[in-house]
Amino acid sequence: MEKLSSKSSSIDNNLIGIKSMLAKLIPSYLGFGNDIYMMGICGMGGQGKTTLAKAIYYKYSNHFEGSSFIANVREMSEKGKLHKLQQQLFDEILEESDTKIYNVQVGDKKLMDSGLCHKKVLLVLDDVNRKDQLESLAGQHLKFGVGSWIIITTRDEHVLVDYGVLKIYKPNGLDYDNALKLFCLKAFKKEQPEEDYKQLSHKVVEYASGLPLALVTLGSFLVGRTLEEWQSALDSFKNIKRDIYDILKISYDGLEETWKEIFLDIVCFFRGQKKDEVIQILENCGFDARIGVSVLVERSLLTVDDKGCFGMQDLLSEMGKKIIHFESNGELGKQSRLWLIEDLLHVLETNTVRKMTKL
Ligand SMILES: Nc1ncnc2c1ncn2[C@@H]1O[C@H](COP(=O)(O)OP(=O)(O)OP(=O)(O)O)[C@@H](O)[C@H]1O
Ligand SMILES: [Mg+2]
Repeated sequence: MEKLSSKSSSIDNNLIGIKSMLAKLIPSYLGFGNDIYMMGICGMGGQGKTTLAKAIYYKYSNHFEGSSFIANVREMSEKGKLHKLQQQLFDEILEESDTKIYNVQVGDKKLMDSGLCHKKVLLVLDDVNRKDQLESLAGQHLKFGVGSWIIITTRDEHVLVDYGVLKIYKPNGLDYDNALKLFCLKAFKKEQPEEDYKQLSHKVVEYASGLPLALVTLGSFLVGRTLEEWQSALDSFKNIKRDIYDILKISYDGLEETWKEIFLDIVCFFRGQKKDEVIQILENCGFDARIGVSVLVERSLLTVDDKGCFGMQDLLSEMGKKIIHFESNGELGKQSRLWLIEDLLHVLETNTVRKMTKL
């Protein structure tokens, strides 16, 4: 479970255009008066919603009596672990260590009865996809203290409207100059392209259409490659739809087979877990995991946070799961990995495991 520290108040220098974005957003979508400010951030995957929400959290959390960044709400909810996020909220905002939440119903009641209502809090609920998640994490009726900020990110605007969020910001992707900067930071470790690569860089940036995740992934894929390799990658783009999954898969397809295996294992079993522990497990399974992990990080397919835990962008993890579904022709028993308990029970109960499946 990802937990962000609220100590830092500076914005990561590698983030492009965020400072000016905040300067515009804060007065129009949030504020410092006596209201409760609720802001939705809505847009397609890879658009920079989580990045923006984190930047706000890091910059402003010190201004509040309590703060919590609840990450991966959709994923945790799908795994039946929403109560763990309620626990996180309790621990971080009320700083009570003796309250234990074992299921969502208990969590709903405890949150309702708690003193959460009176505190001025900064709460971020990241990647929400259903209204009940909002009700379990922010209450049916907002009862936070005045001056609180509630920021919700989602790919589905309907969830926000249904919950009564009136101020919804829809990021449009990066403008051309900022897109070029982000791409170059990944491909050349500086903000402008190398002279020889100028034209090709412009073509890649046009192809990525300002989508931050596509820029980061393509830049990390092309770094250190020759002009011929760039040209051949660009030629191959012509045959690839501009669908984000297909763009991300370019990077996956460029991995050696064992790195692909490591990537898929992390997608299914090890997101959010300690890097050193996971490397140990993978090494025990015969993988050269330390190198594999550093390749995945270099290619921006994996991140390691300041607590040494793995992070992975949601779309990358969704792409990994799609690859597994695709390779098994949609047959659960043929999947190389099973990560949901109900799927595992299903193949065992129906005796449909067809080949070695990692559980
Ligand atoms: N302004 C920015 N400057 C630099 N990098 C950025 C910026 N915005 C986004 N990115 C990068 O783009 C990638 C995608 O961003 P992010 O994860 O925030 O997207 P998202 O909208 O939350 O996607 P999802 O819906 O899949 O959760 C990340 O690797 C992030 O670091
Ligand atoms: Mg996100």
